[in-house]
Amino acid sequence: MSRPTTVADIREAFLGFFEAKEHLRLPSDSLVPSNDPTLLFTGAGMNQFKEEFLGRGRDWNRVTTSQKCLRVPDLENVGLTPRHHTFFEMLGNFSFGDYFKAETIPWEWHFFTEILGWDADRFVVTVFTDDDEAFQIWREKIGLPEERIYRFGEKENFWPSSAPSKGPNGPCGPCSEIYYDMEPGKPLPANEGLEDLPGRFLEVGNFVFTQYERHDGGVLEALPQRNIDVGLGLERVAAVAQGARNNFETDLFAPLLSTISDLAGKPYLGAKASNEEEEKIDIRMRRIADHARAVFFCIADGAMPGREGRGYVVRKILRRAVRDGLDLGIQKPFLASLLPSLRETMSAAYPELTQQGSTIEALSNAEEERFRDVYHRGITRLEEEMHTLKASGARTLPGDTAFELHDTYGFPLDTAEVILEEHGFAVDHDGFDAAMEAQKSRARAGSELSGDVFAQSLGSLLREQGLEETSFLGAEQDHSTSKVLAILDPAQSGSDALLQEGHAGQELLIVLDQTPFYAEGGGQVGDVGQLLHDGQVVATVLDTQKEEDYHLHRVRLEGPLKTGQTLQAQIDVAKRRATEAHHSATHLLHAAMKHVVGEHVNQAGSKVSSEGLRFDYTHPEGLSQETLAQLEDLVLNHALLAEDVAASLSSLDEARASGVTALFGEKYGDVVRVVRMGEFSAELCGGCHVRNTGQIGPFRILSDRALAAGVRRIEAVAGHAAAAHARADQELLQTAGQELKCPPQQVPDRVLALKGQIKKLKDAQKQMAKSGGGASLSDLLSKLTQSGQLQWSAPQGQSTDILRGMSDEMKQLRQKDGAAVPPAVLLCGGTGEPGTELPFLFQCDPKAGWKAGDLARAFGKLLGGGGGGRPDFAQGKASMPQDGLQGLEKAIESFVSELASPA
Ligand code: SER
Repeated sequence: MSRPTTVADIREAFLGFFEAKEHLRLPSDSLVPSNDPTLLFTGAGMNQFKEEFLGRGRDWNRVTTSQKCLRVPDLENVGLTPRHHTFFEMLGNFSFGDYFKAETIPWEWHFFTEILGWDADRFVVTVFTDDDEAFQIWREKIGLPEERIYRFGEKENFWPSSAPSKGPNGPCGPCSEIYYDMEPGKPLPANEGLEDLPGRFLEVGNFVFTQYERHDGGVLEALPQRNIDVGLGLERVAAVAQGARNNFETDLFAPLLSTISDLAGKPYLGAKASNEEEEKIDIRMRRIADHARAVFFCIADGAMPGREGRGYVVRKILRRAVRDGLDLGIQKPFLASLLPSLRETMSAAYPELTQQGSTIEALSNAEEERFRDVYHRGITRLEEEMHTLKASGARTLPGDTAFELHDTYGFPLDTAEVILEEHGFAVDHDGFDAAMEAQKSRARAGSELSGDVFAQSLGSLLREQGLEETSFLGAEQDHSTSKVLAILDPAQSGSDALLQEGHAGQELLIVLDQTPFYAEGGGQVGDVGQLLHDGQVVATVLDTQKEEDYHLHRVRLEGPLKTGQTLQAQIDVAKRRATEAHHSATHLLHAAMKHVVGEHVNQAGSKVSSEGLRFDYTHPEGLSQETLAQLEDLVLNHALLAEDVAASLSSLDEARASGVTALFGEKYGDVVRVVRMGEFSAELCGGCHVRNTGQIGPFRILSDRALAAGVRRIEAVAGHAAAAHARADQELLQTAGQELKCPPQQVPDRVLALKGQIKKLKDAQKQMAKSGGGASLSDLLSKLTQSGQLQWSAPQGQSTDILRGMSDEMKQLRQKDGAAVPPAVLLCGGTGEPGTELPFLFQCDPKAGWKAGDLARAFGKLLGGGGGGRPDFAQGKASMPQDGLQGLEKAIESFVSELASPA
């Protein structure tokens, strides 16, 4: 039998092997953990089975998965080392109170040595200090010599690492790791950290004996059942199986690296890289390959680039990849163009890469474009700094400035350094490190697994004070009697922010035990209103935000306020009702979009306030007026149906099974709130809604426009806001009608007519410029041919409109400067071909005694046509004499001689 070596074959061989051992094969959980609020991202196969380990979960005994994982603490190492990734896959087999060490160790051994065919003599393993049971299994059942079995403490051999002393709380246990010797034949090291010899021993698997639940204070409670959690890093296993130097040189990354190298116009050299420069290029390419995978999978699972938490991590990873692209000289946004290469190797196992393809591309493009702007601004900032340095005679860029560039502008230190060096400057590295450290300690997360991306929040400060979370009453109530639990000064940090009292004029944050004030979330803005004491307003609530589950009322104090005081909290009901109408209209619009535009449309954000609603969505192109009208009608129909709006709690699984729309990118707990509007819309939502869709009132879409490539925004209004917009539109039309001197209904026709006239005039001007060889009025005047007092122009293809335009100009000029224009002018149009139509007009100065109307009549008659008009202006049509221009000239001369004097 041929050995599995490709990533796809190894994954399949592993899952198939454990299926044959009665394991249920389950799909990978989302990268956004479905039921673990302590985690930003799924970082291990076991994450989705926490409850099963604790004996409280679903009814499964044996499960096997290949789990998508994201770990950010290793971010800095990616690309530099052969094994680190942000995104990776973990093959896993799990026992929930079923088999234990004696079964799983031999099974994995069989998988490595028999199925993958690896050399049994190259393995070394580790066990927890006092885990004699595991030691005996390796020693006796497997037959490993004693010197290949190492014993380590809780840092190496407990999972999560150091859990007993450092946490996190939850299921944990001692573990046993299995390593493959990449430099066989060398003497084995003494009992020291094998991971200190990373090039030599490659960890390919970890057996966790999950038998405790950790509680606060490091208390380990033995679980009623003993569990198994085994994890194998798929990319590492594949690298060994393919004899690759590093994980990036396996079949999995080949298409990605080849596309990246095409884009950069430079080869990926791998083992052939012979100097530091070439190695640096390879590192950048590896990093891009890793980060592109991470970003695409995150977006596919709904973790979209953003400003905080999970979104910030995705943004950070994406920016690092783009930065590397810039350094490789890739001028245009490129990241999204790597998606097809990732799909080549991964979409069979992970169809979401195809299903969410347009969203991934759109968001990745939009984010990359935005970052490129930021980056270019960063360069400008750096140049300014250099200028300042030069002016002050300093040679070193201060560390905190370098850090600000890195942190705020995403501008990498090494790039900044190269540019600075070119200009003879250095960077204060110690200062940079200190600023970085200061930020990290501000941002350190509670759990080791959560990475370094949480900021120290007001929420954790309040929790430390033992404050109960705020109870929110406002889905049903507009006011409440509430107690002030904390007063915070937002300008301070840590415990300095906590005040006992506040005074009139101060802007502070207030925490109440219960509140009707909705805190901004799920797109709905925070409530505004008042806090009253004995009927007197003591604080105006300007906004309400949420930190963890504490509602922070941002207030301006109108009088003194003390912690412990009891108050009446009253929201601004009119604003809230309008907000509710917009929120419910947003749900109807979302449902309507899925009906009319397609199921693929994902909500990419929303903002709902008393003034209107914004609905951002992913779709490659603009919607036609017709589609927008259809959407508007559909929403309006459901408002007019006056359907009841009901909110109910359900389990997430149940809600999903019944087809409730879950927002893309939103994270939900186990118990979710489902908001239903008749049969038409059912969506997971924690916000505030009308009781009946009839309360939405009228609904109008105001605009649909592109926000970025593939992301669009609809703005709409409902209720009073819709009526106000309609009224404003009507007023606008009326004003336009007044200006255009027509009834409002005729405004479009009138505008069209005016546009037509403008166009004609413009054309006439152009035409005149062409035909008259750039004939301006002064040109024409200088070209007029004289016949006595009357001066005339020969036909040169001008239309009557042009002639008329000329005549108008002449009239104006005559009014300004009578001497500049001859007293009687005859302008001839038409082509001038013998026998063709000869349009003509007279422009005369009646003050000089000329009468254009009479001239036109007589001239028309003379040449077989007619004419007439006013004393200053008259026109007519005649026919061109058979002998052409000569004939015309003669005719004009005789016409003039017949006019003895002005009539
Ligand atoms: N949970 C363990 C790990 O992540 C084994 O699956 O290493």
